[in-house]
Amino acid sequence: SIPVPNVQELVRKDPFQVPQRYVRKVEDRPKDTDTSYLSSFIPVIDLSLLLMGNNEELNKLDLACREWGFFQVVNHGVAKQVSQKMKDAAAEFFKLSLEEKNKYAMPSDDIQGKLKFWPNSPKGIQEIIKEYSNAIRKVATELFQSFSLIMGMDKEALLGLHKQLVQAYRVNYYPPCSKPDQVLGVSPHSDTSTITILMQEDDVCGLQIKNNNEWVPVNPIPDALVVNVGDVFEIWSNGKYKSVEQRAVANYSKARISYASFLFPHDEVEIEPPSHMVDSKTKQQLYKKVRYGEYLRSSMNKKMEGKAHTQMA
Ligand code: SIN
Repeated sequence: SIPVPNVQELVRKDPFQVPQRYVRKVEDRPKDTDTSYLSSFIPVIDLSLLLMGNNEELNKLDLACREWGFFQVVNHGVAKQVSQKMKDAAAEFFKLSLEEKNKYAMPSDDIQGKLKFWPNSPKGIQEIIKEYSNAIRKVATELFQSFSLIMGMDKEALLGLHKQLVQAYRVNYYPPCSKPDQVLGVSPHSDTSTITILMQEDDVCGLQIKNNNEWVPVNPIPDALVVNVGDVFEIWSNGKYKSVEQRAVANYSKARISYASFLFPHDEVEIEPPSHMVDSKTKQQLYKKVRYGEYLRSSMNKKMEGKAHTQMA
């Protein structure tokens, strides 16, 4: 069964009709603010420098995770040809008929963990997803090494805490919208991942993040990836690093596709701050121990509205 109407199809039938269910309360709507200039302050991290163990870049990473919970990554090693193939294949997929796309539909609150559930068309898309996901996994693994270092741990420690590094992938399609000032593409939420790695299109804005109570757009930097701290990383850092709220706004004239890769631990892993992350003076552990699978299920039940974790001990 298809739980919600396909928005792409709604717009195709009548581009000027926005169903009432998508119209937000005034206080939740995107506002014309002047926070755009803040976008250029969102840190840009050079992964090739991190791989060389460059101290200045490691400090920048630490600051990015503390103050923004978000950063953009350049020199990440994902070949342009691999990301372009992914973008072309996704664009082709969204052009398919609704009937064809519905063959791959699933309930909105589900996660299906196997590549076999992904579409077979356009031809070759499964191989492209696999190639792209492998490239992203490499970026994630390299980032986890640097995160381990800035948390004062051995290089491989954070990867080890996952037991098994699980990767999920979601491609979001936002049709153009005749009333972008009244709706949202995605409601405010924080991610239940350790980190999320997002590929955006180079020429359409949409992603916004909460910083000092303001919504700041994450304007695309060509070829860069956007990385954010998720709830698990916040817990492991005992709150030093922030899993901040994000949302996506709609665009009047252009469709937008974004590609989100979520990295998280195995379901059975018990997540809690490692003892050395708990402040040695106050000895206060801010998060209770919780099994990741349990945490994920309780967050999904909270309907993606606002921050998921209120696990304060
Ligand atoms: C998401 O939260 O996965 C959407 C982010 C985006 O489209 O930029």
